[in-house]
Amino acid sequence: MIDLHCHILPGIDDGPETLDEAVEMCRIAHADGIRTIVATPHFRPGRYDHSEVEVSSAREGLCSEVARLGIDITILGGADVTVTPELPLHLGQRRGLTINNTGRFFLAELPNGSVPARWDQYLLSLINKGCTPVLTHPERNGWFLSHRDALHPFVGGGGLVQITAMSLTGEAGEAVQSYSRYILKQGLAHIIATDAHSAVQRKPLLSGAVAAAADIIGRDPAFRMVTDIPQAIIEGRRPDVDMPEQVVVPRRSWIERLLKT
Ligand SMILES: [Fe+2]
Repeated sequence: MIDLHCHILPGIDDGPETLDEAVEMCRIAHADGIRTIVATPHFRPGRYDHSEVEVSSAREGLCSEVARLGIDITILGGADVTVTPELPLHLGQRRGLTINNTGRFFLAELPNGSVPARWDQYLLSLINKGCTPVLTHPERNGWFLSHRDALHPFVGGGGLVQITAMSLTGEAGEAVQSYSRYILKQGLAHIIATDAHSAVQRKPLLSGAVAAAADIIGRDPAFRMVTDIPQAIIEGRRPDVDMPEQVVVPRRSWIERLLKT
């Protein structure tokens, strides 16, 4: 399996603090059946904005240690990129912000409980520049929980969506689990990733979530979310994904809109 979103580089963000803990995360991932991890430290200017050199040297250090210890895991480059008005500028300047440095796909993280105005059009506009957004864990964002069909225009426009393993297994709470199951059923999610941060609390585990997804959409489609689809993204190819069913949103009268929005 491939983990497309994992905070595993020591001392770079709020992931592991030491090389030993990062290695322990690799052992946990390997035991779960993960063989490729995309190391995606936060990129949030003013908070987490390490240079590309610092990030790649942390990754190379971890790769060497993992190889020395004989753990069969490949660790690729990437970033968990906070969506800001300067996003197109940063993506243009720093190829290391894209998944496996191909310049073709990037992880887009929105704020936790809200979204910027016209967030979907803004992110989709980057596809025209050759870089496709992979929206991370919308199921953990309170705004999406109360706008359940808001992902349709984004996915219909070519955006990709990653849901987090712990959301599907219920460890992030019932509301998050319920919405992540809804997203899956609607065909609005393409990738399951761990978004792991440690060897203790947010661990790099995928197999339980794949089993949970298989109960909803079937084994093969669930397995593709951690194999073929992330593999295509790593290679810089557009994955073969189905378009979601069209949702018909009932029209509301002006008085209903006034009262409910
Ligand atoms: Fe993350």
